[in-house]
Parts: sequence; structure tokens; C-alpha cells
Amino acid sequence: MYQINPLGDALGAEVIGLDPSRDLTEDESRMLNEAFFDYLLLCIRCDPMPAEDFARFGRQFGKPQLQLLRNRRHGDVPEVSVLESTYKRAEDKPDDMQMMRLSGWHTDDSYFAKPAKATMYQSLQIPESGGQTRFCNMRQAYDDLSDAMKARLDGLKTVHSYDTMRAPARASARTAVEASETPDVVHPLIRTHEDTGRKAIYLNSNRTDRIVDMNRAESDALLDELFDHVTQPKYVYDHEWRVGDVLLWDNRCLMHSVNMDFPVGQTRLHQRLLLEGAIPV
Ligand code: OGA
Ligand code: MN
Repeated sequence: MYQINPLGDALGAEVIGLDPSRDLTEDESRMLNEAFFDYLLLCIRCDPMPAEDFARFGRQFGKPQLQLLRNRRHGDVPEVSVLESTYKRAEDKPDDMQMMRLSGWHTDDSYFAKPAKATMYQSLQIPESGGQTRFCNMRQAYDDLSDAMKARLDGLKTVHSYDTMRAPARASARTAVEASETPDVVHPLIRTHEDTGRKAIYLNSNRTDRIVDMNRAESDALLDELFDHVTQPKYVYDHEWRVGDVLLWDNRCLMHSVNMDFPVGQTRLHQRLLLEGAIPV
């Protein structure tokens, strides 16, 4: 059996002693799911795994979904993405970290009508300093809103685009096929979690372009206010990576961003598995 320890006040728990090479028992699976719904992020401490083993482990938590950008898919296991964020040359690293797209707070795949419910992410190589991934708890941030604000937000919808000029850094280029698969989509601003029934603010600084039926200035002001609210330090957990950590996080009620300030030439490499979700309601 394994042990579960909370990681911070905002969200997250670590799982120690779980062997990812064997199938979970029903009891283990139920307990891990419960912990996942309570903590929204689990960090399973283990060693780096080959992509096939990583995908097999991930399938115990849901159905894998293909990553949009073909050039990030693993050659042999296409549902696994290989994500390298290393600065290979000094000129690749900007002075202003906001210019790196991964610095922006986001939830994975919200440009799809059916975004991934969860992401499984394993570190294969990490730099000596920096490179933490930060998470914010948009369920707690929703709960803490005033009743008046909840009433104001109730029923609002947002347009999520593959890219938005609201974000300081541009999205990765898409092929024509990838662009055809990612037209703008509309999602509720307040979303109800399919498994827990809990509400959360559903936002993505890199993709949420505007609120439907609101003029741009008013929409920008409300989105800015909500981003400031959900990213307050009391809602944030910073994950300090150890090699082999497998994070499982809930994209329905968390955003994440990366501290891109790490040394040039030190490899930062992860593998990722997206788990299929439902249309947000
Ligand atoms: C991503 C991402 C986080 C990280 O690739 O979508 O958010 O820590 N990565 O590299
Ligand atoms: Mn991401």
C-alpha cells in the first residue's frame, strides 16, 4: 500500500510507495480517485518510465487523448507527447519570462470542444534550478467569491481560441490540418465538475479571448479581475520537480504555468499523457 501526504495549503498531495508497474487494485483505484478529487493534483513519486509503461500506467486513470501538435507526439506511442523546454542557446532565453508561452497560466487543451479532463506529466530530466510548475486552485477561488460575484458570473460563456492577443507570447505554429481541428470554441465561465458536482472558474490566460455578448473593454476588465483573483498566492502550489515525478492534475479546476527562469543548456524534458474529458457544462 502507499501513503498520501498533502503538498501545500492550496492543493496537491504526494503519493509514496505506489508501484506504477503493476495494475491498481479496485481499492487502490478508489482511494487514489478520492484523493485526486480532494487534492486536484497527485504527485506519484517514481522513476522515469519508458513511454509505453507511462501510457499503460495512465490508462488506469482514463482514456488517453491524442495531442494536437503532431510533431510532439512520441514516434512509437502517439498518445504520449514528448515536451522539451530546454534553452539550447543563450538567445532562446528572453529577459522577460512573460515572452515564453509556458509562463502563461493555462489549462491544457481548452481550445477543444472536449478538453482533456486531466494531464499526466512525468519529468525525465530537470534543470538544477528554476523550472517549477505552478498550479492554482480555481475551485477554491470560485467558492471564495461573493454571492453577488457568483450571480454575476452565472451563465456567462467565453470564447477559447488556439491563440489570443490577450496573451503576451504567441502559440506554437499549427499545420493546416491542426488549424482545421481547432476552430474557436465556447465554454462556460463557471463549470461544474462531472465527478464531484463542485463548481470552478474555468479560465485559460493563453486561450480565453473574450466573454460572449460583452464588449471587449468590459470583457478584458472582468477576465483580468478573475485572473488576478485565481492566481493569488493562497490558491497556488509550486511544484519543485524531482526526476521521475508523475503529476496527475485536474484540468477542469486548475490552471498551471511554468517558471521558465532556468539555466541555458540544462535539459528540461517531460512526457505527457492527456486523459479524455467531457464537454464542459
Ligand atoms: C505543457 C505544460 C508544464 C511544464 O506542456 O502544456 O504546461 O512544466 N508544461 O513543462
Ligand atoms: Mn500545460
